[in-house]
Amino acid sequence: MNLNILVLPGDGIGLEVTREAVRVLRVVAEKWNHQLTLREGLLGGIAIHKTGGPFPAETEKLSREADAVLMGAVGLPEFDNVAPEKRPERGLLGIRKSMGVFANLRPVRSYKALLDSSPLKNHLVDGVDMVIVRELTGGLYYGTPRGIYEDAPEIHAVNTMAYSWSEIERVTRMAFELARKRRKKVTSVDKSNVLEVSQLWRRVVTAVAPDYPDVELDHVLVDNCAMQLVLNPKRFDVVVMENMFGDILSDEGAVLAGSIGMLPSASIGSKKPSGAWTGLYEPVHGSAPDIAGQNKANPFGAIGSVAAMLEYSFGLTEEAAAVNRAMEHVLNTGRVTADLRPTGPPATTEQAGEAVCHAI
Ligand code: IPM
Ligand code: MN
Repeated sequence: MNLNILVLPGDGIGLEVTREAVRVLRVVAEKWNHQLTLREGLLGGIAIHKTGGPFPAETEKLSREADAVLMGAVGLPEFDNVAPEKRPERGLLGIRKSMGVFANLRPVRSYKALLDSSPLKNHLVDGVDMVIVRELTGGLYYGTPRGIYEDAPEIHAVNTMAYSWSEIERVTRMAFELARKRRKKVTSVDKSNVLEVSQLWRRVVTAVAPDYPDVELDHVLVDNCAMQLVLNPKRFDVVVMENMFGDILSDEGAVLAGSIGMLPSASIGSKKPSGAWTGLYEPVHGSAPDIAGQNKANPFGAIGSVAAMLEYSFGLTEEAAAVNRAMEHVLNTGRVTADLRPTGPPATTEQAGEAVCHAI
């Protein structure tokens, strides 16, 4: 198979973890005889430096030509006090929208070897296996009007949370389809006791549910969900929610996995005629400027994103499973990066990536 992939390392630790993820891709391509066509592009702070904007037209063009996009992370501290439209993060929002990847799948599972890496008690975490389905191209992140208004009588700022029926319906269907391949349970998260958008959300989810009679549905308010995630995380299978709720709760989910460095993600949109998904694959973590360039970031979120890419965009389930097994094997050896609190000396980013390659 020809794997035609655009790589966007981005900023900070994005570069280091993406390097290891690409190494894994090369090993997979070699072992299973796939032809790998890799192109590299600019996104985020590095793109601002080199082209003046966070999402250059060239990157957009390359993303259209690729079968799948692998991204590292974006964000640089030097832009901390810059207006949102000039920040590296805007590049990420731009490519998500441009690729139309409206469903962001963020699997959160526990690994036996990492139970002690989580600050939560082992019995709470052991056996956790859920997927957060975060709506990715709507809501507060994109709604207008938005802005800071300097006019009288007082400076004020506005963001808008808006969703249409069809935007909610398509991500809901994605969640139900996914649940069918798992434990057949969907939890929809909203704030329908306060927000009109959430009332519509609940209405749409409820209207779609009868099409999936084999899947159990429940609704949870977002504040309660935040609590349930740490009190009783095993109750969740597929958890679907709007963009910003998903951003917040997936970081909380990271605590269950042991480290945010462990979490992969797959952002998918429409199916191509071949049956493959248009996909953008990125670890859940950010660019972590505090540890960037030190060869100590955890590459497993990025490598897990490669596994997701092999599965969703290329239908290569055997290869994807091999990558996941290899990661689990390395976790079991205990030679892991510092964020996972190893008992011995921590592995470097490179050593962790190398070990996965070796195990494949
Ligand atoms: C994430 C990140 C991004 C988001 C940022 C970097 C724009 O936090 O993917 O979770 O908020 O979506
Ligand atoms: Mn986030």
